[in-house]
Amino acid sequence: MTATGKNLTAYVNGHFLPLEKASVHIEDRGFQFADGVYEVVACIHGHFLDLGPHLNRLDQSCAAIDIVVPCLRTHLEELIRETWQRNPFDDAMIYIQVTRGVAPRAHLAPDTLTPTLIITSRELPRPSDEKLASGASGITLEDFRWKRCDIKSIALLASVMGKQEAHRQHADEAFWVDAEGHVLEGSSTNIFATIDHKLVTHPLDHQVLGGITRSMTIQLAKKAGIEVEERPWMLNEAGLNECMLTSTTNAILPVCHMNDAAVGNGKPGPMAAKLRALVLEAMDALRREPPVRRS
Ligand code: PDD
Repeated sequence: MTATGKNLTAYVNGHFLPLEKASVHIEDRGFQFADGVYEVVACIHGHFLDLGPHLNRLDQSCAAIDIVVPCLRTHLEELIRETWQRNPFDDAMIYIQVTRGVAPRAHLAPDTLTPTLIITSRELPRPSDEKLASGASGITLEDFRWKRCDIKSIALLASVMGKQEAHRQHADEAFWVDAEGHVLEGSSTNIFATIDHKLVTHPLDHQVLGGITRSMTIQLAKKAGIEVEERPWMLNEAGLNECMLTSTTNAILPVCHMNDAAVGNGKPGPMAAKLRALVLEAMDALRREPPVRRS
């Protein structure tokens, strides 16, 4: 479905507005300092994929920077559902952003601010059949981000620069590596490798966002009898024959080339195919649930 901004609705601080009329104050600290956090959650036919874990992570991100989500969880869920209902996408990605609020620009914020809350909806992107058939490509960059990548901060300049560099090199994603060459995560994705038939990904720490799709993948893999190791790993490890990225917007996507070299045989492998099928099955299960009526 194509939809321009003209028929879209956004929620901003207590009001649903046409997207082109929706705005925040220029002294919003999100705009001035990137002083805020966000979430992206997938909605399939009106049913949200892992809404609870996404809202738990929003709470954690807010708590980490000392912002209080400006409404109760139940009300926030209603607002998120209503945003989906007021927009034309059956399969949507709902964007939720909380900033510290509006104040004259000074690094230290008054502690009396009311946080800004915005919620928008866009069509859930799907990787093209071509991309699924050939696999995605990546580049590696030495990590130059900050040391709190576990917070889902709206300060995404490094991610934007990573994505731009990947694009310049005709690749789909930039993956951050630490000084020793361990692969951490992508600019907007987590990454797994298949090494000796085990599924391997970097452990959760300050260098990695705790992706909801990452944790879903780990759970599904374990349930399917696949051994999972959360440990530092490198691209040149013996026995590595697959890589795959995970995120809300991609589910699971094989990464078949890295820095122009083939990963394994350069084709999507069986682990990525199996895990993608399991994630898509979870999404299809939502699709089979009774439809949610639009208002
Ligand atoms: N990005 N790592 C980073 C740095 C991310 O920005 C994201 C998500 C992920 C994957 O998390 P999840 O599985 O919960 O989507 C990992 C979102 C989709 C974005 O910024 O649009």
